[in-house]
Amino acid sequence: MAGRIPSAWMDELYARTDIVSVVSSYLTLKKDGRRYWGLCPFHNEKTASFSVNADLNLYYCFGCKAGGNVVQFVMEMERVPFIDAVKLLADRIHLPMPELTDDPDYERKRSQRERMHAANREAARFYHDMLWKAEGKKILDYLYSRGLDDGTIRKFGLGASSERWDDLTRFLQDKGYTLEELGQAGLSVVKGDHAYDMFRNRAIFPIIDQHGNVLGFGGRAMGDAKPKYLNTSDTPVFNKRKGVYAINLLRKIRDLKRVLLVEGYMDVVAITQAGVTGAVATLGTALTNEQARLLKRYAPEVHLAYDGDEAGQMAIERALSIFESEAIPAKVLYFPDKLDPDEFIRQRGLEAFKAMKPMSAVSYRMQRLRLKHDLETQEGRTEYAKACAELLKKVRDPVDLENYLDLLHVQTGFSREVLLAQIGVAPQNMGQQNNQPPKRENLSAKRVRFPEGYRTEQTLLALLGTGKLPSGMVKADDFSDHTLYMIAQQLLDGKSPAEIMNDAQEDAIRQAAGEAFTMLSDSERENAAVIAWDCLRNLQIQRLQQEINAMTELMKTAQSPEQRGNALKEVAALSKELARLKQQGR
Ligand code: UTP
Ligand code: MN
Repeated sequence: MAGRIPSAWMDELYARTDIVSVVSSYLTLKKDGRRYWGLCPFHNEKTASFSVNADLNLYYCFGCKAGGNVVQFVMEMERVPFIDAVKLLADRIHLPMPELTDDPDYERKRSQRERMHAANREAARFYHDMLWKAEGKKILDYLYSRGLDDGTIRKFGLGASSERWDDLTRFLQDKGYTLEELGQAGLSVVKGDHAYDMFRNRAIFPIIDQHGNVLGFGGRAMGDAKPKYLNTSDTPVFNKRKGVYAINLLRKIRDLKRVLLVEGYMDVVAITQAGVTGAVATLGTALTNEQARLLKRYAPEVHLAYDGDEAGQMAIERALSIFESEAIPAKVLYFPDKLDPDEFIRQRGLEAFKAMKPMSAVSYRMQRLRLKHDLETQEGRTEYAKACAELLKKVRDPVDLENYLDLLHVQTGFSREVLLAQIGVAPQNMGQQNNQPPKRENLSAKRVRFPEGYRTEQTLLALLGTGKLPSGMVKADDFSDHTLYMIAQQLLDGKSPAEIMNDAQEDAIRQAAGEAFTMLSDSERENAAVIAWDCLRNLQIQRLQQEINAMTELMKTAQSPEQRGNALKEVAALSKELARLKQQGR
């Protein structure tokens, strides 16, 4: 299909299409306020968490987080491409299809991505089929020797690349792909008009995203060939820093309690076969914030199950900081004897694996610090106690704090009072920080613990999406969360929520928008401006509070009386501002 549907025509289609009646032709909806609820057609469920928002023409499932506009709903239900879904909807309301306008750049990019997905899919199938042929026997035997069975091999779509130079390249050329395309997709290495396969003589792990698109591959060498794992280089559809291996399997797991993040492809596959659910891995690079945010959608917490060697332990400390910066609760599984999860479960079995108790981030860090200090000496005990006190400043739960204190007391001999003083928490203040009841009944908030700031920004975005706020009231800069910022900017550029959902290339945007645009109750929509004002004030308060905290920290470490005096002045000014803001709220 050449050309693009004119946006004015799409606007008309959206305006005249009633999403409630479209969805109702597939499932039963019940009205509750302005929203409609039903059993989600995209995952198995007994209680309705699938919502339809008629005003915004959007659907969103609070269970599996599927969401989109009416066109996307039809695409998913009928498993048809965009244009066919549009035709179906146009037919329903007897709207003639428009002349297609030419937007070559848009079409080119869209079709480039689609063709790349298709080429990758063909390649995955080719590699998988190869396993069962004579040329793939060696690789199949290797997978068997790693303890994998046929069911697991099929579940992960594992494959084999043969030793020959250009099997896959020729196969895909016969299917009509050009060498340029195969080079861009990272499937072939192209030199002039010659080309050979990127992956040869390797066991193949296809990397599949949450929509089922094959984005790229990891290839395990046979024997000691280098590199041990070869990964698809970044392409227009594949970014190692964003993707997560086996994320495609997470959505199918209901009520997952935690995502288990491991280091290697083989770890994911092996422990899944052994009966552990929810295992995923990064793609040969260290964890990024983007990957952390992706994981957060699938379970309320993440357990790190990295290799037991020193490299793995250092990676855990880094990953813990990343999860902390995203306010994602994370714990650690520690494997003894430098084992990785695959080796551990094969040597000691599933029961031993399940019996391992995940450590809190604080316990884990205390254990790591313990290794760095010699507790036989007074100096070692002192340094260790001070370092642990720093860690314990962040512990909010009084019972947890008590336990850590006990341990630290036994390890170092310092009294609990001294340790408490070092931590700087007066005991009676402990535990008062986080006891605010959640402000609104928000289904998604029950599943995932958002930092308060994120919740406020999310609400603000939802309010902005109603189109009922005075112009200029909310600015893109009011959002510190990157995804919300991007969505806000589009709203401020005049796009409607439906258009944003429609154009969203990134899954993060579609999900965040879907959630925000369906979260408001009727009364919240009616009082949009008042609530938005509250949100803005709360955000300002939170940010002032953060600044004050930072300044207070600075004061503690001030090098000179002058520096200290300046920080003090700053804190006083900020506190005054804060008091003024809080006063306004009354
Ligand atoms: P490991 O070296 O820990 O291997 O790499 P492993 O997972 O235990 O693999 P087996 O058991 O020897 O087969 C962990 C991950 O690091 C990335 C891969 O993603 C791998 O799964 N890696 C490793 C690379 O990308 N390239 C390499 O050369 C090695
Ligand atoms: Mn291993």
